[in-house]
Amino acid sequence: MSTPETRPSPSPPAPPGPPAKGLVALVRNFLRTLSPRQAATVWAEDWIGMLVRPIPGFTGFGLRWLLYRVLFGRLGGLPFIYKGVYFEHSYGIDAGSNLHVSAGAVLYGRGGLTIGNDVMIGHYATIYTSQHHWGLGPEIPMIRQGHVSAPVVIGDDVWIGAHAVVLPGVRIGRGTVVAAGAVVNRDTAPYSIVAGVPARVVGERPRPAIDAETIRPPLFDEEGS
Ligand SMILES: CC(C)(COP(=O)(O)OP(=O)(O)OC[C@H]1O[C@@H](n2cnc3c(N)ncnc32)[C@H](O)[C@@H]1OP(=O)(O)O)[C@@H](O)C(=O)NCCC(=O)NCCS
Repeated sequence: MSTPETRPSPSPPAPPGPPAKGLVALVRNFLRTLSPRQAATVWAEDWIGMLVRPIPGFTGFGLRWLLYRVLFGRLGGLPFIYKGVYFEHSYGIDAGSNLHVSAGAVLYGRGGLTIGNDVMIGHYATIYTSQHHWGLGPEIPMIRQGHVSAPVVIGDDVWIGAHAVVLPGVRIGRGTVVAAGAVVNRDTAPYSIVAGVPARVVGERPRPAIDAETIRPPLFDEEGS
């Protein structure tokens, strides 16, 4: 089982020092961690995202698809991104086809988020790929210690229930069900059902009679080898 600390990050984590002083230095340090394209994406997901996020019906689905196919690293097929979904650092998100994300979900792509095909993400679920550094010593407030990134990988045919939280560095195996309200801090086995805080296996889904990969190859290497 791997931990966030052991995984490589797709982009180098923000350097923790020297500590920033004042608002200007904090903003400068933040921008220093982004390429021009990433900074433009963060701007667009805030300002254009604010306009398209509340639009109802198929107009909203269509406009959000047009926006996020530009901002994501990759977005396959036609996704169903419902009203009020927040993507942050969406340049770090790669998603397959038939993605469904329900209202209020927050997906944070700063450390790299890969989502397979046919994935459903429930209302107010949150997926984090980065967290604050806290280990430099109490004399430096954590707000000035930078970030540690660890990518999250979600396999094909996964359902993440409402209000679940997926923590940095976790790999959600193909076919997993994450129960409502679970906090997932460990990798999940294919076709498992996990629930609780921290998430534990509470059941198993039926497995395919033949290897699902022979019908449709996975979007990415789910074993990470
Ligand atoms: C996980 C889920 C799918 C049910 O799976 P299931 O296999 O039918 O689960 P069961 O009801 O038989 O429960 C199995 C065990 O898991 C526990 N469990 C089920 N859901 C749980 C949850 N959300 N949190 C904590 N424990 C849960 C049950 O208490 C039970 O434990 P026990 O054996 O000690 O009594 C369902 O509980 C769930 O969370 N659905 C998500 C709903 C949702 O988010 N909807 C939004 C749609 S996008």
